[in-house]
Amino acid sequence: MKRVDRYLLARVDLPDSHTLAVYRAHGGYQALEQVLRKPWKPEQVTQVVKDSALRGRGGAGFLTGLKWSFMPDPAKDPRPRYLAINADESEPGTCKDRVLMERDPHGLIEGCLVSAYAMRASTVYIYVRGEYRVSYARLQAAIDEAREAGLVGRRILGSDFSCEIWMHPGAGAYICGEETGLMESLEGKRGHPRPKPPFPAASGLWRSPTTVNNVETIFNVPFLVLRGADWFKALGTKGSTGNFLCGISGHVERPGVYELPFGVTAREILEQCAGGVWKGRRLKAFFPGGSSTGLLPASSVDVVMDHDSVKAAGSMFGTAAMIVLDETASIAQLMEVTLRFYDHESCGQCSQCREGTEWLHQIFRRIVRGQGRMQDLDLLVSLANGMAPAKTICALADAAAIPTLSAVKHFRAELEQCVRLGRDPLATATAQSPEHHEAHA
Ligand SMILES: Cc1cc2nc3c(=O)[nH]c(=O)nc-3n(C[C@H](O)[C@H](O)[C@H](O)COP(=O)(O)O)c2cc1C
Repeated sequence: MKRVDRYLLARVDLPDSHTLAVYRAHGGYQALEQVLRKPWKPEQVTQVVKDSALRGRGGAGFLTGLKWSFMPDPAKDPRPRYLAINADESEPGTCKDRVLMERDPHGLIEGCLVSAYAMRASTVYIYVRGEYRVSYARLQAAIDEAREAGLVGRRILGSDFSCEIWMHPGAGAYICGEETGLMESLEGKRGHPRPKPPFPAASGLWRSPTTVNNVETIFNVPFLVLRGADWFKALGTKGSTGNFLCGISGHVERPGVYELPFGVTAREILEQCAGGVWKGRRLKAFFPGGSSTGLLPASSVDVVMDHDSVKAAGSMFGTAAMIVLDETASIAQLMEVTLRFYDHESCGQCSQCREGTEWLHQIFRRIVRGQGRMQDLDLLVSLANGMAPAKTICALADAAAIPTLSAVKHFRAELEQCVRLGRDPLATATAQSPEHHEAHA
């Protein structure tokens, strides 16, 4: 693997990396100064982001500059404008934004300010996963420090640009990471996703123009201002530019969050960053981008990690949260746990999702317990096809259906064997006990 030119994680190992003093000593707030003092026009900032072809790091991989350009022209639309930062990070396996928020909070704040300037927003909300207490505290402390230094609030650095940043803790619901569920929650309501259209840029928070972006996406923006789009494009592949944060977990020797350029292979990440499959065992399967992406068999481990290549391999890049399973893992048990999560987190608005996630969970549960039926395999496929793609208000149903379909596709023989034997030979003892399931029903 070629040497990684780290910028996203360049500061995180410095002592007191979360403080304004350390951030400034390492070039912090220079992008904001450049934009406000030169000054750049807001459209210039958007243009750099467009030219860079930065894709959102929140899972869908949508082009960030294009998304920003959907915000209406302020000359024709006087409504207040908002930037909402999605720091809900609740997808199983995903743990990258947390590192940035805990160890480089000023990097996110500077990204928020420069991005808000580009979109002419004067209010930013950062919606943080409820369990992320340290992230919340670090960000709040950093905002306070920045405000004290004239970097947040009215007439920032003596310019005409004013911008407030408010923190909002979530309450531990995965659905509040979906951008419209997030907006409902921010408005103080139950986190029920809204039907789209209208899209947030047309009618978002309090029915005003809003852009929702992921933490890592916005963290890239100051670097784009300082180093330019060509530098960024040179780092990745044609369709996926820059570096990305990969959180690798599961049966590996060194789980963690690693910064990598698009174009590395899953094998390189597994072997060179994470030290390989643990205990000298063999690889069985992996989720390339979090538990909502298609499960891939070991034979796909040479897939190039970028949006197009992972899609061509039959999965999704998602949030680059690789979850690795060794040869001893039970696919039925993995799927029982995964579907238990989606069943629990479905908001219940759409019947396909509300009922479908529960059925999928129950079927995997009975397969692990040795009570599955041969026709259950086709039933799983039929149910999942009834839930996705794009059959519901939001993509939570897809997040449950996609791994289900891939598990049946690649591991049908193993699931059938559980049915035939009347037990799952690979499942751990607890997973097979009725008490365990009753506790999680
Ligand atoms: C059920 C569900 C949960 C989601 N959770 C998150 C999340 O925790 N963080 C995130 O950035 N995006 C999450 N997303 C994606 C967001 O809806 C949205 O696409 C993203 O915040 C846009 O930011 P980006 O363009 O910068 O990637 C989720 C989507 C769904 C359907």
